[in-house]
Amino acid sequence: MNICVFGIGYVGLCASVCLAQLGHNIVCIDKDNKKIENLKNNIVPIFEPKLNELILKNKNKLIFKTNLENNEKNFDIFIIATGTPTQKNGEVDLSAIYNVADEIIKNCKNNSIIINKSTVPIGFNNKLQDYINAKTNLKLDVISNPEFLRQGSAIDDFLNPERIIIGYKSDFALKKVLKMYKALNLKDEQIITTDLNSAEMIKYASNSFLALKISFINEISKLCEKTNADIEYVKKGLTSDSRIGKKFLNCGIGFGGSCFPKDTKALVNIANNYDIELKTIKATIEANEAQVDYFINKIINFYKGNIKDKTFILLGLSFKPNTNDLREAPSIKIIDKLTDLNANIIAYDPKAKYDKVKQVNKINDAFNDADCLIIATEWEEFKNIDVELLKKLKDKVIFDGRNIFINRNLKKYGLKYYCIGKNEQQN
Ligand code: UGA
Repeated sequence: MNICVFGIGYVGLCASVCLAQLGHNIVCIDKDNKKIENLKNNIVPIFEPKLNELILKNKNKLIFKTNLENNEKNFDIFIIATGTPTQKNGEVDLSAIYNVADEIIKNCKNNSIIINKSTVPIGFNNKLQDYINAKTNLKLDVISNPEFLRQGSAIDDFLNPERIIIGYKSDFALKKVLKMYKALNLKDEQIITTDLNSAEMIKYASNSFLALKISFINEISKLCEKTNADIEYVKKGLTSDSRIGKKFLNCGIGFGGSCFPKDTKALVNIANNYDIELKTIKATIEANEAQVDYFINKIINFYKGNIKDKTFILLGLSFKPNTNDLREAPSIKIIDKLTDLNANIIAYDPKAKYDKVKQVNKINDAFNDADCLIIATEWEEFKNIDVELLKKLKDKVIFDGRNIFINRNLKKYGLKYYCIGKNEQQN
């Protein structure tokens, strides 16, 4: 099929490349000229495992452009994957989608369909359909097909989804979407078809529920520390109940990224517009913001409030491993707070770059003259750091925000080890 994708960010780029891999011809449109020029030259704007290889492999099925030329009317499907940022007043900014819709209307043939992958407030895709109907006599059906890929495993998530959600109004459009996904060979029960509004709600509810699980385990972990319970045992006990499930119950220093923080806030705001207070989601957001503060205070309290001129190694800048994305990363809050108190920070991250902090290119270089180690992201390469390096820390203390050293018994090397959900005496 001939498919045109608007918005070549995380979702748009990964979806384009995967759809090319499934055999479709894709035109990728993004207003960012530099990004498009780079992509034409195989310079990929994000780090994502498997993405570069797949772009190269499908080069002949991918065209990168900044806009559609007039009369380029051969697309079966348009996909919208533009950003939907939150505005200062809490409302979702939908202007990019309307601009794309205008461009589609100018360049479409009769009976093409628009698949909206952007996360949009409940009811929006119906409004978009009305907007389009008012502007053209052509039949142009809107589909809501929220995306569930995760950064760091986006390609595998797209090509092997647990389920896909398709919100639709016209059977004709549904058939076209199913044809687009045919090569995924999904079982019937993996294809969930709904009305447009329910599909939109599923996306917000999924992200908010996952965020809620994280805030829940983070709060329980704090209580474990105070009550001499051990989060590792607690987690084992909790997650062996299949009603609770095993995933998204890793405690840490809170969720970040471009999705959970944004979508939880947007859902609270949407509910407010209907005079409904989403107490659980509000608490999820609050608990998340408190979690990183709690961790930072642990560090400051260890030094009895005085960290002036101390040198901290910060391992991990990205909001999670296998991405170079810094959006809403807890590391940024840690850097801001510690540098406000006149501490020095030496950061290392395998992929992320942050210009407000001194960064080293090799992990070993960070340990030359440091007092304390902080772990903010659980990159694989941090997990087996040689204990000889750890012993070089002048204050012999480690604050592990992701529990990666929890089973290494660092006490026996004379190191103090603070993690999440287990107090210092238990380590
Ligand atoms: C999330 C969802 O998982 C995707 O399904 C969705 O498509 C995406 O948002 C989106 O809306 O576009 P993503 O933000 O890439 O994906 O990352 P996750 O793997 O979900 O992690 C989010 C945050 O939660 C990270 O900061 C991570 O460190 C944290 N987390 C995750 C925990 O603290 N504990 C856990 O057990 C799991």
